[in-house]
Amino acid sequence: TASEKNTFRLSATDRGIRAASSLLAQGGLVAFPTETVYGLGCDARNDRAVAGVYAAKGRPSFNPLIIHVPDTASAEAFADFTPRALDLAQAFWPGPLTLILPRKPESSISPLASGGLPTVAIRIPAHPLARKLLAAFGGPVAAPSANPSGRISPSNADHVMEGLAGRIDAVLDGGPCAVGLESTILDLTNETPILARPGGIPVEALEKALGTPLAAHGTSTGITAPGQLSSHYAPGAALHWPQSPVHPADALWLAFGPLGTRRGLTLSHSGDLAEAAANLFGHMHALDKLAAEQGQTSILLDKIPETGLGLAINDRLRRASAPRDDA
Ligand code: TXA
Ligand code: MG
Repeated sequence: TASEKNTFRLSATDRGIRAASSLLAQGGLVAFPTETVYGLGCDARNDRAVAGVYAAKGRPSFNPLIIHVPDTASAEAFADFTPRALDLAQAFWPGPLTLILPRKPESSISPLASGGLPTVAIRIPAHPLARKLLAAFGGPVAAPSANPSGRISPSNADHVMEGLAGRIDAVLDGGPCAVGLESTILDLTNETPILARPGGIPVEALEKALGTPLAAHGTSTGITAPGQLSSHYAPGAALHWPQSPVHPADALWLAFGPLGTRRGLTLSHSGDLAEAAANLFGHMHALDKLAAEQGQTSILLDKIPETGLGLAINDRLRRASAPRDDA
């Protein structure tokens, strides 16, 4: 269409970073790698740019964005940190932890970026390219995962291009993401910390740092992290855990542990959860393509332990296998 953009693929060089940074400064939409997944970044203070991110993703505008900053001092300009929040920041930043904190009333962050809420979600990514981009840009970057709303999150630049080419200005190509799962989101706006989304930092590590069990886990919380829309990460083919021990020989599997004689891909031969997390979205993308080519409508899943990163992996698989609410 006439409004299609020419989406540039920028290299992981000083020049690429400068180009990405100046696009952000002009209100552009730039996907960039983080250690978790690729984010679709924009200047968090620019209402029009933020609106552009929602439009490019087809995202419901009530679902707020995470603000990415280079250091805690930058975050303190627009959010209130309790001593507990500072301790967690100290322990886990830079890294795959997002903190939800009260938003300062005089904050320069676009209200649209935080969905009109009195709170704001913040993280300091650990990926070296993300850090260089944030330093070069010198302002807060609002970035949801760089995928069309409700689809599988992108763990490399090709995934970003497949989902968003023509709708964004550029993708800064930093190769595959090491963690492969989105950040863990911890809501610190109440007396009791609440796990709003399991993710790249295992819950057990947070509980250890907090010295207390978390109020609630993942999907069992009644919490309204709007990302808790039930159907999410939806591939074209239906994902499900098999109901019966008998399967068609040509069934496609997303396995955990040895694939054996089955067709498909395994998240980790050795049953390693960190390796499985890093492979999750890439394997989902790849199997979905394979299923489409072969006219298969379903992909079978192995069980994954509900500990450590397994909690976040199972959360994503449950959402990917949930009935669609594509409307
Ligand atoms: O690892 C990540 O977190 C990636 C990378 C790019 O940083 N980002 C990411 O963003 O996963 P997104 O937009 O796909 O998911 C952010 C989640 C959403 O579920 C949103 O509802 C929640 O964070 N969120 C953001 N601000 C919030 C707030 N103020 N209160 C509650 N939930 C919030
Ligand atoms: Mg997302």
